[in-house]
Amino acid sequence: FPETRCWLNSPKLFSRLLAPRLHDTHKGSYGRIAIVGGADGMAGAPVLAARTALYTGSGLCYAVYLKNPPVYDPVTPELMFRAAHQYDFSSDVIVIGPGLGKSPVAREYVEKTIESGKPALFDADALNILAESVELQESLADRSPPSVITPHPLEAARLLGTDSISIQSDRLKAAMQLATKFNAIAILKGSGTVICSPDGKTVINPTGNPGLATAGTGDVLSGMTGSLIAQGWPAWEAALAAVWLHGKAADILEKEHRGCIGITAGEIAPVARNLLNEC
Ligand code: APR
Ligand code: MG
Repeated sequence: FPETRCWLNSPKLFSRLLAPRLHDTHKGSYGRIAIVGGADGMAGAPVLAARTALYTGSGLCYAVYLKNPPVYDPVTPELMFRAAHQYDFSSDVIVIGPGLGKSPVAREYVEKTIESGKPALFDADALNILAESVELQESLADRSPPSVITPHPLEAARLLGTDSISIQSDRLKAAMQLATKFNAIAILKGSGTVICSPDGKTVINPTGNPGLATAGTGDVLSGMTGSLIAQGWPAWEAALAAVWLHGKAADILEKEHRGCIGITAGEIAPVARNLLNEC
């Protein structure tokens, strides 16, 4: 392994990207993001990610469904929905995985995302699909635009061909193995999320609490990371900022609700927005 340099995550590591918006800009200045996923029974996952992208500043957000895209989201009608066959991979960044499922079509879209030449984030079932195909793993490792992978410990274990107990017994080592094996920024999630770059930079995140141990918070993290990349942030700083803000928002919600029980994933993005504006 390359020499390990390990930091504690803090806004100091990404503050250079936090510039006020110039007046003479338009929605195209803030990037287009597509979230690909939403198999039957998991239609909410891309919505959570796409809403988060809106709340954290992306100019245009598409939610791309393998089939049966919702007509619109009455809560955030700003989102645009597309069926996969209508999507041409022209967005600035692709987030694939939230509620994706593991159908043959899902695999096809993971492959297309790898081949897209665009910055891409692979989450959830996109990672489970990758874990089952050495061919896809090799093409991921070979691509040159930035890739981000966001496994929880079980997904990490599948990707590295081991079990989650081994992953948890040395999380720094696991994150570094993931980053080097897949030539991607690896976000190994869980209490004390570890972020690792393929060139060996390692950061441990101090924010967040067990209130995040609830359905959909991973979808929110992938939407937030993608959103910052869509806005032109380098993928490394986008990953650091998203992980820090996601956890910090949960810490604020914990205070507000006098405890961490019952935080819901959908509450995180509006709080993260305020933090992003304040930072
Ligand atoms: N402390 C701090 N952060 C935590 C804690 C904790 N105790 N528990 C969870 N988190 C954070 C993780 O770091 C991560 O950012 O909450 C998020 C949980 O993400 P996921 O495990 O991906 O959860 P989820 O959004 O429900 O995943 C949706 O994708 O990963 C698959 O199997 C999963 O089908 C499910 C779907
Ligand atoms: Mg998840």
